[in-house]
Amino acid sequence: MATTAVPAKIAQRAAKLRTDLDAHNYRYYVEDTPAVSDAEYDSLFRELEAIERDYPALATPDSPTQRVGGQPATEFDPVTHRVPMLSLNNAFADEEAEAFDRRVRTALGVERVDYAVEPKFDGLAVSLVYEQGHFTLGATRGDGYTGENVTANLTTVRAIPMRLPAAAPPLLEVRGEVLMLKRDFAALNAAQGSAGEKTFVNPRNAAAGALRQLDSTITASRRLAFFAYGVGAVDWGDVTPPATQDALLKLLTALRLPIASQRSVVRGLEGLLGYYRAIGGKRDNLPFQIDGVVYKVNQFEHQERLGFVSRAPRFALAHKFPAEELPTEVLAINVQVGRTGALTPVARLKPVFVGGVTVVSATLHNEDEVRRKDVRVGDTVIVRRAGDVIPEVVRVLPESRQPNAPQFVLPKRCPECGSKVVRLPDEAIARCSGGLVCPAQRKQALLHFASRRALDIEGLGDKLVDQLVDAGLVHTPADIYKLDVAALAALDRMADKSAANVVAAINKSRATTLARFIYALGIRHVGETTAADLARHFGTLDTLLAADEHALLEVRDVGPVLVQSILQFLAEAHNRKVIADLRSAGVHWTETAPRKALAGKLSGLTFVLTGTLPTLARDDAKALIEEQGGKVAGSVSKKTSYLVAGADPGSKLDKAGELGVPVLDEQQLKAMVTDGRIK
Ligand code: IVH
Repeated sequence: MATTAVPAKIAQRAAKLRTDLDAHNYRYYVEDTPAVSDAEYDSLFRELEAIERDYPALATPDSPTQRVGGQPATEFDPVTHRVPMLSLNNAFADEEAEAFDRRVRTALGVERVDYAVEPKFDGLAVSLVYEQGHFTLGATRGDGYTGENVTANLTTVRAIPMRLPAAAPPLLEVRGEVLMLKRDFAALNAAQGSAGEKTFVNPRNAAAGALRQLDSTITASRRLAFFAYGVGAVDWGDVTPPATQDALLKLLTALRLPIASQRSVVRGLEGLLGYYRAIGGKRDNLPFQIDGVVYKVNQFEHQERLGFVSRAPRFALAHKFPAEELPTEVLAINVQVGRTGALTPVARLKPVFVGGVTVVSATLHNEDEVRRKDVRVGDTVIVRRAGDVIPEVVRVLPESRQPNAPQFVLPKRCPECGSKVVRLPDEAIARCSGGLVCPAQRKQALLHFASRRALDIEGLGDKLVDQLVDAGLVHTPADIYKLDVAALAALDRMADKSAANVVAAINKSRATTLARFIYALGIRHVGETTAADLARHFGTLDTLLAADEHALLEVRDVGPVLVQSILQFLAEAHNRKVIADLRSAGVHWTETAPRKALAGKLSGLTFVLTGTLPTLARDDAKALIEEQGGKVAGSVSKKTSYLVAGADPGSKLDKAGELGVPVLDEQQLKAMVTDGRIK
């Protein structure tokens, strides 16, 4: 076949089909005036495919038929941008636009500035490299310096020309935005929905998903659009470089690159704000989503004089539209329990389409926030959503309040496990105290329990914990000790050998230390050091379990917040039961005699530290005093026994002088510890 001569008529027909298909793409994606239906387009496309099948010599790489995607990739290669892809400074208020114009005028020393103004496309920035008129490399923005090579995917984007007219400069890097037109997004979601597949939140997410497909045939099926707004690296060759942004975009248009028709050139601040309002008014009727407009000083020579600050140009500004706000009704206020036991009130809302997505719920953050906004079930509230930010309830419309609508109160018991809900002093977040039993916290609690610094059960990681909990095999850490090889081997991706290893690790973990055991319980604020202090101080678990507030406060570094946290954890009968079960399961350690807190040489004495001591760091000095039963206080009072002062003491030294508190240096403190008296 390869040698078959191509009849001139056929070659002409192929060329015509190619030009027509490109023109239809241009009308559809760029001019927003499709001239043919999808079916007509498809029929022309199939005709060209058939010709190319019969006469492969006609199947040029830049034919529209080649835009169907190819072999899936395993990853995207990195691409270093020849010219970095920077970002824009953002403004929301008119005053910020005014300040921008003022800065520009002052820096240039001119009365009025001409600006090129454009829509701010809500898509994904890409760079397209054309060499000798051929599309050779397409990349994402990435971090601005290095992006990903998505050439195969961008080849399937019909709005992107594969070949530029002969007048193109020898090297042209086009910068622009890939996005999905609203109508293609609606069609895609309808198709996904009826196929029972997941639908996309908004056109931007759909476009992002399509662009980052390793399988370019999927990208091809998603209909992406593209608009150019600038250039990166260029070798102009014989082409006269344009002097303005306006001239550049005209040149790109002449090269058949897609340029949005909504752009304009305006004068001065009035021109900027007039454009902002005009586009804002048309926003809903545009074929694509935008999140604002972009102002660019039109003259390139002016742009160069203005330059850049950090990563954004001084000559351009993105003036964004305010986040969309709409009213809807609060159907209920639910309370969610997070992995750490935090209780979050969440407003369930009557579905409302705002900021490009359907919102059905909004977080109310915490109890105080609900009170402050006074949100109640049945209220009409204003919901706001901007960009990819989570939706929020802005305020209540007071006139919507139902008579007798009750105020929101956080439940006293955890909705997941019934344990007591507690809120520690100074914290905004209320938490479930059933750390070892609460289903919401289960996976987190188990992972912590098994972690290296806790009971150190090797092999009991994320995936296994997920499976064990989901299969209902493990509810509390005590259940871990009931697992056997047969139960584990029955799980997904768990060979007999690995099951045996996990069981061996579980068995090994039975012999532990009291400090590790206390840490493994996952009591809020009880880290490794506190756990070790508690273990050393109380010596046995039973003494700790029996400790009251007073006894706990005697432990080194333990303050009121920690005490509350420990007491609340231990007050939960569920938690105590798990501790008992763990001991019955054979978890054990060597107990020591409880430390007599008041038996040291410094017992009964209170010290205050100030200034820099010659050899002891502050924590070391504190530890030294506390080990000997002394207390360290933060400020000097009549109750202070000694002030320990180093270099550059603060006002504490004066205070000690006023109150007649004796002052020691480091050496004297050490002597007291060794000899029990001051030298
Ligand atoms: S010009 C030096 N023009 O906004 C920066 N950017 O914050 C040159 N964007 O991700 C950018 N519409 O992709 C420019 N008409 C437009 C734009 C636009 C959207 C995006 C751009 C980048 C972000 C910059």
